[in-house]
Amino acid sequence: MPTMTSAQVRESFIKFFESKGHLFVRSSPVVPHDDPTLMFTNAGMNQFKAIFLGDNPKGWKRVCNSQKCLRVSGKHNDLDVVGRDNYHHTFFEMLGNWSFGDYYKKEAIAWAWELLTEVWKLPKERLFATVYKDDDEAWQIWKDVSGLPDDRIMRFDAHSNFWEMGDTGPCGPCSEIHYDRGDLATQAETFKDPIKGVNGENDRYIEIWNNVFMQYERLSNGELVPLKAKNVDTGMGFERICAILQGKTSNYDTDVFTPIISKVAELSGVPYKDNEDGTPHRVIADHLRALSFAIADGALPSNEGRGYVLRRILRRASRFARLLGQKKPFICKLVQVLADTMGDAFPEIRERKDFVASVIKSEEESFIRTLDAGLERFAVISSDLKKGEKIPGDKVFLLYDTYGFPPDLTGILAEEKGLLIDEEGYEKCMEEQKARARANMKQGINTMGTEGWTQYSEASTNFVGYDISVCETKVVRFREDKGILSIVLETSPFYAEMGGQVGDKGTLVSGDLEIDVFDTVKVNDTAICRGKVKKGVANEKTMSGEFCATVDDARRADIRKNHSATHLIQAALRSVLGTHVQQQGSFVSNELLRFDFSHFNAMTEEEIQKVEDIVNEKVMACLPVNTDVMDVDEAKASGAMALFGEKYGEKVRVVKMGESGAEFSKELCGGLHVKNTGNIGMVKIISESSVSSGVRRIEAVTGRGALTLLRAGTQILSAIREQLRCKDAEVLNRLQQTFAKTQNLEKSLQSVQLELATLAAADLLQGAVNVLGVNLYVREMSIEDAKFKTLMDGVQNKLDVDSVAVIANKGNGNGSIVVMVGKNAQAKGIKAGDMVRDLAKVCNGKGGGRPDRAQAGTREPEKISAAISNANNWIREKLG
Ligand code: ALA
Repeated sequence: MPTMTSAQVRESFIKFFESKGHLFVRSSPVVPHDDPTLMFTNAGMNQFKAIFLGDNPKGWKRVCNSQKCLRVSGKHNDLDVVGRDNYHHTFFEMLGNWSFGDYYKKEAIAWAWELLTEVWKLPKERLFATVYKDDDEAWQIWKDVSGLPDDRIMRFDAHSNFWEMGDTGPCGPCSEIHYDRGDLATQAETFKDPIKGVNGENDRYIEIWNNVFMQYERLSNGELVPLKAKNVDTGMGFERICAILQGKTSNYDTDVFTPIISKVAELSGVPYKDNEDGTPHRVIADHLRALSFAIADGALPSNEGRGYVLRRILRRASRFARLLGQKKPFICKLVQVLADTMGDAFPEIRERKDFVASVIKSEEESFIRTLDAGLERFAVISSDLKKGEKIPGDKVFLLYDTYGFPPDLTGILAEEKGLLIDEEGYEKCMEEQKARARANMKQGINTMGTEGWTQYSEASTNFVGYDISVCETKVVRFREDKGILSIVLETSPFYAEMGGQVGDKGTLVSGDLEIDVFDTVKVNDTAICRGKVKKGVANEKTMSGEFCATVDDARRADIRKNHSATHLIQAALRSVLGTHVQQQGSFVSNELLRFDFSHFNAMTEEEIQKVEDIVNEKVMACLPVNTDVMDVDEAKASGAMALFGEKYGEKVRVVKMGESGAEFSKELCGGLHVKNTGNIGMVKIISESSVSSGVRRIEAVTGRGALTLLRAGTQILSAIREQLRCKDAEVLNRLQQTFAKTQNLEKSLQSVQLELATLAAADLLQGAVNVLGVNLYVREMSIEDAKFKTLMDGVQNKLDVDSVAVIANKGNGNGSIVVMVGKNAQAKGIKAGDMVRDLAKVCNGKGGGRPDRAQAGTREPEKISAAISNANNWIREKLG
């Protein structure tokens, strides 16, 4: 076997398939921005999902790549095993080759065998092939191509050999290749036990490559329908093949991981061991990769969806860092070494390393705080439990969900106190949480899939909306679901939601049929109008004619203004705050614009105003807005701002604002813009806030929106001025005077109330009973709680030093008892708090307070008379 570095392994895979006529396609981001059924990219084929389903606008036949994948949620989830074995990862690279309706089983199997045994020279006696149970065709091809003995071409059922991307979508039978890492002499023996064999639960035989023969689509009702064409989708575990080619038994011992693991050891001072003691090093190295690539591709830790998954991963890593004695942020210090090892293959990690490190650092800081809070919470939860009792499942879940304590950690803490944990209850809460997350994912519109479409032609949409808003067109395909139409057009003026800009609305009219288009969305590369019939009927016949498509142009003019203003704001932010400002997300509608960007502190009033001034200066300067279409690399080289992690086509649009050669803003952008910045009218920032650690958000309005805001502000001001009967300039002064006056009035009111209460209290405090030298007043009444409280203030004011007052109120259905004790009586040992607590026991009440005044409440007011009647005896006991 040749010994190759991981970079060489990647390169030789790609070279091999290029030599077989494949086109190399770059990895798509690990965060799939355009598939609502998927949280993270979990296989190389994700970016080609629409092609399998029949939408292949670029006409690709054969492609190959190395895809960044995360398997931490949904159908394919390996999170829990990471670190425990040496060949599963949260983040990994998948090497793959694809045929879209081109070659099929024969070539796929033959090339796989050729690459493994002739190029990489893997020993044949260590290789095993598997096929789907009734796939005789694949079995025979393996036999012919490899000459493997019959018992080394094994058949398995759907669990292992029928691959599906998710609950719905493209799928098909598959054929895997497994590698025996063990002692060849014991191979036959091992195989007698299925658990020890291929697809068993062992780490001797590992799967290295999966060849899927994609020929079905799984529908939401579970049915399988054949795809239009037969395809090939393969995936090879890059880290696993590197381990084999480098002669290592653990992926963590390859050059993919060793630089990171050495850094973990160096920074923590804890040497790495290839056994259980090394688990923290392995988990940290693995999770570092997952976190860094996800953040570089646009995800951020948060409390929901994908952000929640990232937060979990980070906390798991951080907890393991603590096991290495690290009490301060640690994972963030490793981003640099990751950027050094992987930056050549995936430049985005090098370009964004500082941002990634700072996001991780502030998440770690907040987790470290949470960890301490979690320990306190654990103390409270466990304080009520006796040895041998279980901590309830919902509490274990709370510790996990809110404080990031994995149940195994809670288990360890529980054990120290002789407690157990209710694992079943915890699992139930976890299941409920997962069901909620799944329901959230499904709320997205799944317009992909071939179910229920009426198809007229194979055309792909020609978008003409950059310049026009009305055109004649025909329908390519449509479908109806619960009264909502999804329509793909041949020529379309409708902008489909993308790059943060909302989709267009408008109408589609053909003869008597009128459709109200309420949104336009993009699913993979296809724009879909979503509409409702306003007049007429939509069926196969009426939808087949010529349509007049009209975009709501007034709305779109507002969208254009907001989008162009977003570009000006980005450029102004970079000039005021610095070039670390990078777009993290944006939302552009007809009503407002939202722009998220990397920056660590809240902006000051002054900075906000400066940005607003610059932007409006550029609006008033009426700068020309021009768009060029050019190669993506040329565009980036020209200094145009691009979004990291965004999947751009080969040709991109570059939107420039300002005179040629001296542009104020230059951005890669497929959105719609004004022709001249003067069209924006005006830009007003309405808020600046925090989105998550290291990310700020600006919201602003333009044009008509700014006018509406301004007008509403002036109207409020004049209404206030009229109420205050003064000039604009005096409004603030007047308001301050009015507030001061109200405060004075409130104070006077309080003292009058106290005076009145003191008078009322004087009536109440008549006819004391003398108990061993103490004047005791025991009274009962039934008045509103608020009045009772004021009256008690009066009693406290009036009560003399030798007296004790015990007063009960049955006011609002519940009851309360107040005890007040004068100074001399206190000195004799009568404490209001103790007294009220003891007296209230008779009516099942609870409470307490200071020695001079205390209160107890009860839900059994009928027993309150009996309770206070013990006051006399209580004092006798105390003083007797
Ligand atoms: N899509 C297949 C997999 O992920 C190749 O295993």
